[in-house]
Amino acid sequence: MMVTTALLLWSLLALVHSVSSSLSLDNCLGYRAVNVEERPGGLSADLMLVGQPCNTYGRDIENLRLEVEYETETRLHVIIYDADENVYQVPDSVFPRPTVHHQRRNENAPELKFSYEDSPFSFAVSRLSNGEPIFNSSGSNLIFQCQYVNLRTSLPQNPNLYGIGEHSDPLRLKTTGYTRTLWNRDAYTIPAGTNLYGAHPLYFDHRGETGTHGVFLLNSNGMDVHIDQAGDGTQFLEYNLLGGVLDFYFLAGPTPKEVSMQYAEVAGLPAMVPYWGFGFHQCRYGYRDIFEVAAVVSNYSHANIPLETMWTDIDYMDQRKVFTLDERRFPLQKVRALVDFLHQRDQRYIVMVDPAVAHSDNTAFTRGMEKDVFMRRQDGSLYEGAVWPGPTVFPDWFHPSTPDYWINEFALFFDAENGVDIDALWIDMNEAANFCDWPCSDPVAFAKANNLPPDPPSARPNPSSLPGFPEVFQPGNRNKRRIKQSPRQGQGKYKYEDGKKLGIQGRDLIDPPYTIANAAGSLSNKTINTDLIHANGLAEYDTHNLYGTMMSSLSREAMLHRRPEKRPLVITRSTFAGAGARVAHWLGDNASTWEKYRTSIAQMLAFASIFQIPMVGSDVCGFTSNTTEQLCSRWAMLGAFNPFYRNHNEYGMISQEFYQWESVAEAARKAIEIRYQLLDYMYTAFYRQTRTGEPWLLPLFFVYPDEPGTFGIDLQFFYGGALLVSPVTEDGSTSVDAYFPDDLFYDWYTGLPVRGRGEVIRLSDISYTDIPLHVRGGSIIPVRAQSANTTTELRKRDFRLIIAPGLDGRAVGELYLDDGESLHQPATLEVTFRYENSRVSFDGVFTLQTGLRIESVTVFGRGGGQEVVAVDLPLSKPGGVDLG
Ligand code: NOJ
Repeated sequence: MMVTTALLLWSLLALVHSVSSSLSLDNCLGYRAVNVEERPGGLSADLMLVGQPCNTYGRDIENLRLEVEYETETRLHVIIYDADENVYQVPDSVFPRPTVHHQRRNENAPELKFSYEDSPFSFAVSRLSNGEPIFNSSGSNLIFQCQYVNLRTSLPQNPNLYGIGEHSDPLRLKTTGYTRTLWNRDAYTIPAGTNLYGAHPLYFDHRGETGTHGVFLLNSNGMDVHIDQAGDGTQFLEYNLLGGVLDFYFLAGPTPKEVSMQYAEVAGLPAMVPYWGFGFHQCRYGYRDIFEVAAVVSNYSHANIPLETMWTDIDYMDQRKVFTLDERRFPLQKVRALVDFLHQRDQRYIVMVDPAVAHSDNTAFTRGMEKDVFMRRQDGSLYEGAVWPGPTVFPDWFHPSTPDYWINEFALFFDAENGVDIDALWIDMNEAANFCDWPCSDPVAFAKANNLPPDPPSARPNPSSLPGFPEVFQPGNRNKRRIKQSPRQGQGKYKYEDGKKLGIQGRDLIDPPYTIANAAGSLSNKTINTDLIHANGLAEYDTHNLYGTMMSSLSREAMLHRRPEKRPLVITRSTFAGAGARVAHWLGDNASTWEKYRTSIAQMLAFASIFQIPMVGSDVCGFTSNTTEQLCSRWAMLGAFNPFYRNHNEYGMISQEFYQWESVAEAARKAIEIRYQLLDYMYTAFYRQTRTGEPWLLPLFFVYPDEPGTFGIDLQFFYGGALLVSPVTEDGSTSVDAYFPDDLFYDWYTGLPVRGRGEVIRLSDISYTDIPLHVRGGSIIPVRAQSANTTTELRKRDFRLIIAPGLDGRAVGELYLDDGESLHQPATLEVTFRYENSRVSFDGVFTLQTGLRIESVTVFGRGGGQEVVAVDLPLSKPGGVDLG
């Protein structure tokens, strides 16, 4: 968090590096393609270095291989790697490659066409149907060195590019002078223009009517992607990689939704989550003890705000050590009592686990040492950093004994009978974060000097035993002020072997010759040293960006081991491409500012619709710095339209539970009521994404890809294909300029039609406890007739249908229901609703018998707003009714 002298020095060196080296790149003459073999499904060739090696940022690799494969009609795989196969490649165990069905592939002509120039070698990809160039690397010579790979593609002028995250910049990327750095880091306050917690080397290039395509580079090395214009004004996107190979998947689309679905075929379909995971979650860093946690639960129920899940941050740990309990403040029996209490009330409990294990006499450390699962330096000594508990060691996820170790720690600590029986898991600091600056030669001294653990027992107040525990209500402490309402209208240990893609030897794994713009400074700063070698021989230099995702996968396994039949819910901070197939993500340490409130929308959209991690959300009301009543109120409402809806706050900041202010409580009650009524609509759309990859949370251009007005919008979004959310986004404002695509919409609250013309409409008089919502014509939304206090209760409520006829007078909608939590569902309800000529009808699969009915139908746009028709239709068989 501090800009150190080391960091400044490093930046200076970095500058000198890049200036001197960029000059010599011109001497690199590229490669020549020889032995080209064309076959029906693809092509292969050898690429030989032309001229003398230029050895700019490390040694040139003289012999490369090119493999091109038309994997599906819409997916082209192009990989350029070293002929000796020593260069590191992302292991299949971490990123399983998509299966290729050769027979199916040959049925239809591929939509993408690969072509090449043999000398100097370059390649191009174009769209077969219209000849549209998609990728063309002929503008510069390919550079493939042992610590630097450079490839540039030309692009049309003013392209609409999205992705290459994780970032907190606008959804549509800047196209001049812009660098996206991918190197996972602990990014406190998520500053714009910097590398954040995750690495997703994927971009969408949206060209309106000529189509959208995606380019995914499967590479986990640190990289800078430059998007800019060359001296002659031509637009380009350039990869500058610190290693690895060029492993490209080109996705043809042609619509944004289809690109996303095609990416899911490569990265994996997202994991389904439990129904209750969509409930409202309360968390904070800094709850003093179990009594305070219990009081928050009670206060929510007294405030009549539905609370689904209570969370505890690292506060529960003994001196911040993972797999321990602070016996004074979080005694086991009291924690168990609270968990029982929550479970009896159909509520849930979630706690945090960090990867770093305290280097001390705790059992998690001792057992890890017995299995030798912690990362070691090349001289064989134990590698230590400093995180919350002070000096810590880090599990090596590639070590063959780590799965047993981790699963066992979970089984013991989170034991249902004798331990902390959590319902889901929160994992953090897994970039991996290390507070100790490189070279971190004395983590003990560092920890002392930096007050780690931050609050030794002597510095923390005694626990506040309250009568009535666990049903503790703590009155007072509330902010009675009301805001003015406006009425609403509207290595070392293991031998290196050649040919195993383990990474070239003899590289500078700490300070590579090429420098990426890592906001934390040098590669190893504030993380694990990049010259550590994992148990399987891979260098941390190459695999750094995988650390969080590997922890995620194993933690999911550990959760499954505890409850083998239930869908695990694991929320992680650090991700790599494909993480969504196993876990969910929260957007890290934002700040309680309007800027971060706005940013949260673009971030959420990028993860849900582009990176295929649809269970995502930001810290509602903001994490660091003090929130304000108005911001928290607005965020309570916006958060209700995040797939993952959690209020979370930093240690030392003013309390921001929704009940702290009357206005925020009112906003939260209203927002949760709408969210819960819509929960099955969300569950249905989310489920569809887990089966097909079709994104359910959508930027406007995903729904209206031909309307240029939608391309840059990232302050409005579609919550499911049917609901347009247009939040107020400015401090003190009660209006929002909302874009309405050329289509018919209806106000959610009144049913009144709004004819969109592809223009902005000002929505005014929006009180601090309101959020504009519009239903898209042509949709049928099944909603629960009433909301409830918990999602368990909600599942017992009957349904109501909202019909929003389209411009053609028709509408369709879907409903999916299952038991909400089993991994394998024996019976489901999968219904399609149709509306035409004033008749609504439905059919589908009815193997799940719920006893639920549709009790009314609301038709929007009728009778000056909406018309409600009482019906009684069992959801156990096909049905229908004329609405007159
Ligand atoms: C960093 C996480 O991003 C934040 O959410 C958490 O509260 C702190 N670590 C303390 O565990």
